[in-house]
Parts: sequence; structure tokens; C-alpha cells
Amino acid sequence: MRKVNLRVEIAGITLKNPVVLQSGCFGYGEEYRDLIDINRVGAVVTKTITLKPTAGNPPPRFVETAAGLLNSIGLANVGIKAFLKEKLPYLKKFSTPVIVSIAGKKKEEYLELVQILNREEIAGIELNISCPNIRKKLIVGQDELETFHLIKAVRRKTKLPLLVKLSPNVTDITKIAKSAEKAGANILSLVNTFSAISVDVETKAPKLGGVLGGLSGPAIRPIALRMVWQVRKVTSLPIIGAGGILSCNDALEFIIAGANAVGLGTVIFINPHAAQEIITGLKRYLSRKGIYDVNELVGSLHEKTS
Ligand SMILES: Cc1cc2nc3c(=O)[nH]c(=O)nc-3n(C[C@H](O)[C@H](O)[C@H](O)COP(=O)(O)O)c2cc1C
Repeated sequence: MRKVNLRVEIAGITLKNPVVLQSGCFGYGEEYRDLIDINRVGAVVTKTITLKPTAGNPPPRFVETAAGLLNSIGLANVGIKAFLKEKLPYLKKFSTPVIVSIAGKKKEEYLELVQILNREEIAGIELNISCPNIRKKLIVGQDELETFHLIKAVRRKTKLPLLVKLSPNVTDITKIAKSAEKAGANILSLVNTFSAISVDVETKAPKLGGVLGGLSGPAIRPIALRMVWQVRKVTSLPIIGAGGILSCNDALEFIIAGANAVGLGTVIFINPHAAQEIITGLKRYLSRKGIYDVNELVGSLHEKTS
């Protein structure tokens, strides 16, 4: 096999390869100690952390759907204090950039979290503005202005690279992406899960304890891909593209459509070795195509201009 380059640089963060473990899909890392070698992936994005410990939504929290997974975790997490003391040290043992995902009920909570994280040696902060399974009047990432104001306020408080996780539950994702860029985001991460429900026809009750869930997995892939393709056209910011990626081919689709790196979520539950398989697959593909550098593939989609 010819030597190829998988190294990717996004907003000053160097990834050994463009494969990122996505938020919420590999516990806090240690749970997968025997299954995933974190040293070998490009970056990890932690479970979304809130200021206080959060119990999350009532069970059941998972429903399997055709080619997908519906979850209603509701941002269950240990809270920032315990995270820094008990969870982050494990992830920092590796040579892989750690990006910490955060969410708050209001702007002040995001700002407090950012100020706490400024003191940590981490590669970046990802603002989760798009969790679909918490019952709130407004999800920030569904509104251009709210997105702008939150990111602008956070931007003033940190010099760390700022990632923003976009919601697919919008009419036009490019508008939110542009707002995020204008406010000072450094990297766009898309997409989060699609807002969805499921019904038990015997009891006529919602199958999920939290009623609303977020759909992920292969069922969403072509839509997520379309969104990455659309966002690529309106921004030069680096994009981490995710949504239903199972294989190297799926990852390639996202890169060719415009993603600088790809995120793995649901697949980790199905095949924890997926990251390594995709990394090997990318090397083989580049070598077979005679392309030296994976970065050359980003946004290389041939589109007919009629
Ligand atoms: C069980 C589960 C928990 C998740 N938790 C989070 C989270 O805490 N924060 C976040 O930004 N995204 C979270 N996500 C969304 C994923 O990071 C990812 O964006 C989404 O699932 C789409 O990718 P996929 O189809 O490869 O899973 C979660 C997804 C699943 C399935």
C-alpha cells in the first residue's frame, strides 16, 4: 500500500486522522477501555456535560427503529465537577485531542462552564445547542439569533477552539451555520439527532419515557449528508460531519460532500471497532485512488453545472 496522509488540521487542532468519536456514544471513554484504542482515533468529543449533575429522562430511553436508534437520554451526566475530577483524567492519558461538549439551561450556565474549562488542558469546547430530547420551550440551535447571541457571548470568554453542534431540526441549516460562523465559531459539527417519537399501539403510550427522542443511525445518513453538503457551500469553516456512518464508504461520502472530519456515534454501539476499520479503509481507498492526502478529498464532489 502506498503511503498516504490522514492527518487533518481543524482550527489549530491536529487530528492524526479524520475519525472522531462523537458525543454521548462511548460513555466517558473508560467504559470502552478494552474495545477502543483512543490513541488511534483523530479526536474524541465527550458526553455533553452540564453545570450540575443531571439525572436525564425517565426510562425507557431507547427504542430501536428501522435502520435507526431513538434515544431519550436527556443529557444525563455527572456534572462538571465530577467530570473534571473523575472522568477527564482518563481521556487525557491519550495523545488524542479531547473536546469537551457542554450544555446549559441558559446562557449564564454555558458561560460558567466555559470559564471552568478555560483552566483545563483540552483541545476545544463543543457547544451542544441542539439536544432534541429535553423539553424546553426553545432549543437555541433552532433559532438564528439565539445561536448568534450565545456563541458571541461564549466567544468573548474563551480562546479555546469553539465547536458548535448544529441541529438538523430546522428548515434551513445553512442559516444557523452562517450565524454560528458570524458569532465566532471555529468548527461546525453536524448533525445532532432528529427529533422523533414512537408509539406503543397496545397501551397507546409513547414508547419513550421522555416522549420525545432523537433519531440516529443509518436511517438519517442521507439527510445528514445533504446538510453537510449544503453547509459546505456557505462556509469555509471546518466541518465534522456525522449521521449514520457505519463504514468507510459512508465516511467517504461525508468527506467528499464537504466534511473535513467525520463523527461516529450510533455505530459504536453496534461495532466498537468501526473507527479502526474506517481508518484502515480510508488508507486503502486513498492508496487505490493514488491520492496522497485525505484533505484533497474534502468537498471534491463533482457536480454537473447545467
Ligand atoms: C445514545 C446517544 C447519546 C447521545 N448523546 C449526545 C450528547 O450528549 N451530546 C451531543 O451533542 N450529541 C449526543 N448524541 C448525538 C451524537 O453525538 C450524534 O451527533 C448523532 O447520534 C448522529 O450520529 P450517528 O447517527 O452516527 O449516531 C447522542 C446520540 C446517541 C445515539
